[in-house]
Amino acid sequence: MKSSNFLITISLFSKFVVARSFLEAISTYPELSNFTTFYASNINLANLLFGNPSIYPITVLVPNNNAFASYQADNGSPLTSLPTEELLSLIQYHTLISNLSTTNFTMDSGLTAPTLLTKEEYNNRTVGPALAAQFGGTERSDGQVVFIKSEDSSGTRRFVLRQGGIGSTAIRSGRDSDVNLTVLEEGIWDGGRFHIVDSLLTIPEPCSNTIRGAQLSSLDNALNRSELWPALDHSTNVTCLGPNNAAFSSAGNPDENLNKTVLTDALLFHTLPEIAYSNFLTDGQTFTSLANLTVKVKITGVGKQKQIYFNNARVVDANVL
Ligand SMILES: *[C@@H]1O[C@H](CO)[C@@H](O)[C@H](O)[C@H]1NC(C)=O
Ligand SMILES: *[C@@H]1O[C@H](CO)[C@@H](O)[C@H](O)[C@H]1NC(C)=O
Ligand SMILES: *[C@@H]1O[C@H](CO)[C@@H](O)[C@H](O)[C@H]1NC(C)=O
Ligand SMILES: *[C@@H]1O[C@H](CO)[C@@H](O)[C@H](O)[C@H]1NC(C)=O
Ligand SMILES: *[C@@H]1O[C@H](CO)[C@@H](O)[C@H](O)[C@H]1NC(C)=O
Ligand SMILES: *[C@@H]1O[C@H](CO)[C@@H](O)[C@H](O)[C@H]1NC(C)=O
Ligand SMILES: *[C@@H]1O[C@H](CO)[C@@H](O)[C@H](O)[C@H]1NC(C)=O
Ligand SMILES: *[C@@H]1O[C@H](CO)[C@@H](O)[C@H](O)[C@H]1NC(C)=O
Ligand SMILES: *[C@@H]1O[C@H](CO)[C@@H](O)[C@H](O)[C@H]1NC(C)=O
Repeated sequence: MKSSNFLITISLFSKFVVARSFLEAISTYPELSNFTTFYASNINLANLLFGNPSIYPITVLVPNNNAFASYQADNGSPLTSLPTEELLSLIQYHTLISNLSTTNFTMDSGLTAPTLLTKEEYNNRTVGPALAAQFGGTERSDGQVVFIKSEDSSGTRRFVLRQGGIGSTAIRSGRDSDVNLTVLEEGIWDGGRFHIVDSLLTIPEPCSNTIRGAQLSSLDNALNRSELWPALDHSTNVTCLGPNNAAFSSAGNPDENLNKTVLTDALLFHTLPEIAYSNFLTDGQTFTSLANLTVKVKITGVGKQKQIYFNNARVVDANVL
């Protein structure tokens, strides 16, 4: 009896000792001073986002001062001059569901993590059973996602070390761009964790912007000729297996040479009626494409040697959102 009382006292005490607000936690990082200043001077917006324990635990990816500087250089105006609504969406997209740290980011297949960004304008997807199971249910994992994987070359689960001895990993967010994530083992606050990103994440955009932004011009041409763009941009919950220009070229330029009917069927064959995040794919899994034909997943190799195929086509760039 006595000893169990003693244990309870200790655990309450240690909880008290580590308790700190998000603002207190980020304030100790000089490279986060822009975000810290922004946060402190917009405390109502900040509390709206981070002061609500019912959404805990969460993991905030805090943009460092370089991210603020690059934004300003690229856009000619400071990030903080964005309209409040847009800022809110952007910060929501930087906030991941659950308490995520090194072990989560070093999974061999990477990690798909939902964010607080649930607004439909940015989020034409359904959660799917695998993501819901991992992140505490459909409602909890309803927000747009980011994809994170370890980028080390050694094939082990260790991170590539950057200055300061902290881990580095790569995040796949919206457009075809990667952002570096610095994982902070000590980045703990009352509501979960925080880590540092060296560039702003880009919120996913409609499919046409993304495919054109990725320079997939043959696919663009095929979708133009088949007039499938409007349907694709307004479809929810689909995965495009988008052939790159080399694939179109080696298949004899079907974007130019097939008639509209056949080209449309071919494109529907490349479209899956659900979201296939690469980390949930399994060898032998099948999908029925929109052309009502089966597409089979093949996975070879392990760790960094892992390759994913849909039928005979190898995935060269996964999880473009
Ligand atoms: C970011 O911080 C730097 C250094 O403190 C400062 O010069 C710059 O004006 C800040 N930028 C913004 C957008 O707040
Ligand atoms: C993150 O990693 C921890 C420790 O391995 C694990 O308990 C937790 O379920 C992981 N979270 C997610 C969302 O996968
Ligand atoms: C996609 O939508 C279909 C039909 O609504 C649903 O059965 C499936 O679970 C969804 N998949 C994902 C991964 O969201
Ligand atoms: C991410 O890190 C790599 C390797 O250190 C670097 O080359 C790249 O410029 C970094 N990306 C950004 C957006 O800073
Ligand atoms: C997050 O995980 C750390 C340990 O990994 C723990 O100390 C902390 O209390 C957790 N935070 C929340 C809000 O669950
Ligand atoms: C989602 O669908 C809506 C309505 O169809 C559309 O306006 C919006 O651009 C779509 N968003 C994305 C990210 O595709
Ligand atoms: C597809 O159509 C759009 C809109 O008309 C156009 O801007 C784009 O250049 C076309 N793409 C190709 C590869 O021709
Ligand atoms: C389209 O091409 C296919 C295969 O070459 C052919 O069977 C079909 O008749 C063509 N359709 C039209 C409308 O020309
Ligand atoms: C899809 O194919 C299956 C078997 O190949 C067939 O039974 C079914 O009727 C087809 N459905 C549609 C909508 O064409």
